[in-house]
Amino acid sequence: MKKFLAILLATIMILGICSVASAEPKTYKVGVSIYQFTDNFMTLYRNEIEAYFKTLETDDVKYEIIMADGKNDMAEQTNQVQNFITQGVDVIILNLVQTSSADTLIDMIVDAEIPLVLINREPLAYDADGNTIDEAYEGILNNAKVCYVGADARQSGTFQGQMVVDLDNHGDLNGDGKISYIMIEGDPENIDAQYRTEFSVKCLTDAGYEVECLDDQVGNWDQTKGQELCANALAKYGDKIEVVFCNNDGMALGAATAIQTAGRKVGEDIYLLGVDALPEAIDLIRDGDMTGTVLNDHIGQSHAAVDVAVKLLNGEEIQNYYWVDYVMVNKAYVEAM
Ligand code: BGC
Repeated sequence: MKKFLAILLATIMILGICSVASAEPKTYKVGVSIYQFTDNFMTLYRNEIEAYFKTLETDDVKYEIIMADGKNDMAEQTNQVQNFITQGVDVIILNLVQTSSADTLIDMIVDAEIPLVLINREPLAYDADGNTIDEAYEGILNNAKVCYVGADARQSGTFQGQMVVDLDNHGDLNGDGKISYIMIEGDPENIDAQYRTEFSVKCLTDAGYEVECLDDQVGNWDQTKGQELCANALAKYGDKIEVVFCNNDGMALGAATAIQTAGRKVGEDIYLLGVDALPEAIDLIRDGDMTGTVLNDHIGQSHAAVDVAVKLLNGEEIQNYYWVDYVMVNKAYVEAM
């Protein structure tokens, strides 16, 4: 009997220890590499990735986020991904520095059998002559555990153009029958920059308006550069400039400063359009210092990216592409917010 009691006690203790052990939460390691921490928009995006992962934690499941700054340097980012692999992360969320390096990184990650969620910088498909084509990327399509989460930049460009078309004078302030604009572009390798440049103007010409491009420069998404380029253009073309299109709000914030410094007034003698709907841009629109922007939904995109990363962690099937809509943000929209 004593022996039986001793065995019973031991069994209870072992079960107790096991149940304590099984109460330990499962912690998933998530490697996130952002192309550049100083980017205004990607700062909102990456903060929301971390915040949203936190909300999904339970007593049983935790997420350890390893957030790395690609410093706009492809070699640096490749090292980071290599480190993620060595550290044995369970999933990677990747905002590529260079979409032209997509294959190299996708292959590295797929070979290491780690699921991958690409965000914000869509890898481009090319035809035999090296021209970009509007097709899904094979490196993504061919891998069941690789996907891209983003927004269709054509939509954002079209919305920028539409806000000009919607103006009473359709952007033709001096009544010479054409809309004279300058374009300040993001990183030209980025499809967002290419499509916004193309589709903002296409929207005007499709609506039947004549356009004149006075200047088209690369500002690499950067506020200081946007200010400098806009100031130079204003000095060179003066009143001829009726519309300033910026591929993002970062550069538009810089352009807004240049416009004020030049003594010009948005809505009266010039129009200014951006993309992203950064809080600072919303304030400018409310105060009449910017014509409009387009919401690049970092909340919707970061949540979609995290949700699909969690699906991958749970071994669920995923789609290869997830799209989040842009939203037009003009003064009426801001006033109704
Ligand atoms: C945003 C830009 C940002 C870029 C980074 C774009 O979608 O509009 O503000 O700099 O992504 O890749």
